[in-house]
Amino acid sequence: MHFPIVRHRRLRQSKVMRDLVREHALSVSDLIYPLFVAHGSGVKEQIPSMPGVYHFSLDTLMAEVDEAVALGIRAFIVFGIPQTKDGDACEAHADHGIVQQALRKIREQHCELLLIADTCVCQFTDHGHCGVVHQHEHYAVIDNDASLELLARTAVSQARAGADVIAPSNMMDGFVYAIRAALDAAGFEHIPIMSYAVKYASAYYGPFRDAAHSTPQFGDRRTYQMDPANAREALREAQSDAAEGADFLMVKPALAYMDIIKMLRENFDQPIVAYNVSAEYSMVKAAAANGWIDERAIVLETLLGMKRAGADIIITYHAKDVARWLRA
Ligand code: PBG
Ligand code: ZN
Repeated sequence: MHFPIVRHRRLRQSKVMRDLVREHALSVSDLIYPLFVAHGSGVKEQIPSMPGVYHFSLDTLMAEVDEAVALGIRAFIVFGIPQTKDGDACEAHADHGIVQQALRKIREQHCELLLIADTCVCQFTDHGHCGVVHQHEHYAVIDNDASLELLARTAVSQARAGADVIAPSNMMDGFVYAIRAALDAAGFEHIPIMSYAVKYASAYYGPFRDAAHSTPQFGDRRTYQMDPANAREALREAQSDAAEGADFLMVKPALAYMDIIKMLRENFDQPIVAYNVSAEYSMVKAAAANGWIDERAIVLETLLGMKRAGADIIITYHAKDVARWLRA
């Protein structure tokens, strides 16, 4: 029997040809760069498990923003490390909270940038959970609906401070609706919600929790973040968030959840955001520091894989490096 050879290699024979038939691309305009802002002055403190990622105080933050802007980065997500933590997460929704101050400061200098506020309370609560905790005699519960009120107040104060996008990461039920209603009532109907719609209870957040000092003091986040074993449940989470008015749908983490990114892409028209989370970053940095991998090639391939899976946008700590590499 004659079997004809299928000539796939015809379209791979030169760089021009390969460039011509390429299906996906990574661009600096796809990227969102996370910033960690702390109180104090002159602070530029490296996060030990995240080489190249720092806590900045308000005065040192601007140099970092300027550097990223010079590399072509236009979108930032801001996380705050408060001075004091308490049961009501007071600093999360205070006008002078660290995130609110950072938003105002960046806005003053760069009106063209897209500033995204992460809306959660785990950095700001003394127990480190993403909502209000009621302590019973032998156990504690997260009060979903009481948390919504706190989150809505936080979102409005962030919008008032100049956030262009509100990105709620708390995984309480109904948070998109509650935040949408509060933003609208405060005159922020033009501010979109980038929902962490599908957020798994993941070990990949470890370095971030070191960075943000937001490890839960008891228990874990499994009553509100998703079980890594579940895929269909991600559709239900995304569906309710879309119905409640989410303008963007996020999947987090990204690397171990490429199937979920693809599933959301196929089922929803909203822009899909992949969060390339802290441990995904730390693993690459550790291997690169040992000389075991080609960092540039690995990072570009991984992020391109997220685009190929269906992400339109990637939140990544590698953003500055990627911007540099895409230029060269
Ligand atoms: C807080 C929050 C977390 C991350 C972003 N916002 C961690 C968590 O749920 O504990 C993770 C980011 C990362 O690991 O890079 N709700
Ligand atoms: Zn949280």
